[in-house]
Amino acid sequence: MKLFLDTANIQEIRDGVRLGVISGVTTNPSLAASEGIGSREKYKIAVQEISDILDGPISVEVVSLDADGMVAEGREIAEWIPNPWVKIPSTAAGFEAISTLSHDGIKINQTLCFSLNQALLGAQAGSTVVSPFVGRLDDIGQQGMDLVKEIVAVFKTQNIETEVLAASIRHTLHCTMAAQAGAHIATLPYRILLQMVQHPLTDSGVARFLADWEKAGNS
Ligand code: E4P
Repeated sequence: MKLFLDTANIQEIRDGVRLGVISGVTTNPSLAASEGIGSREKYKIAVQEISDILDGPISVEVVSLDADGMVAEGREIAEWIPNPWVKIPSTAAGFEAISTLSHDGIKINQTLCFSLNQALLGAQAGSTVVSPFVGRLDDIGQQGMDLVKEIVAVFKTQNIETEVLAASIRHTLHCTMAAQAGAHIATLPYRILLQMVQHPLTDSGVARFLADWEKAGNS
């Protein structure tokens, strides 16, 4: 399972990419807004900066609600950077836009997916990846990870090439479970990436090795 960073924060992306474990970045209008990005032009500049840091796919979301608007935005985003994935919501207008943009050869991250049927529709329309939102389903009392499992299993049975990107990841267990469910990608907030590194036995083990080494007269 590949790991993407779910952030529009340039410093977090620089720090995360330095670890050598990050293959892509996902952004959305809320993440952009939380970085003070308040215009299309600023979003473009930030996305270009991210693309300079990382070769992998950068997901950039449209804000139009109608298919024509999404297609126009998607075509524009596709010109911004070498490896864009245009994020399109799982709505009727979204499926229409996914179909048009995917026929143009533009890669699509189908976002805000909350059901297997939405994932099936997106796959038929030409989504490159589908993003089931695990945490937001948990928030309303459903097992979000069950949706990831279902989509992975059905896509495999049906020989569907669209990949599954586990999104709305809220803690490290989500990440573990997404891998166990067979997700191709999980997109993580930076703090969860840091939490994945941590284990108290690693820290105490490093301290003990160093203490033993120094006790023997080494420095
Ligand atoms: C990523 O593509 C999604 O936009 C993101 O994971 C949503 O996360 P949230 O539900 O924590 O906002």
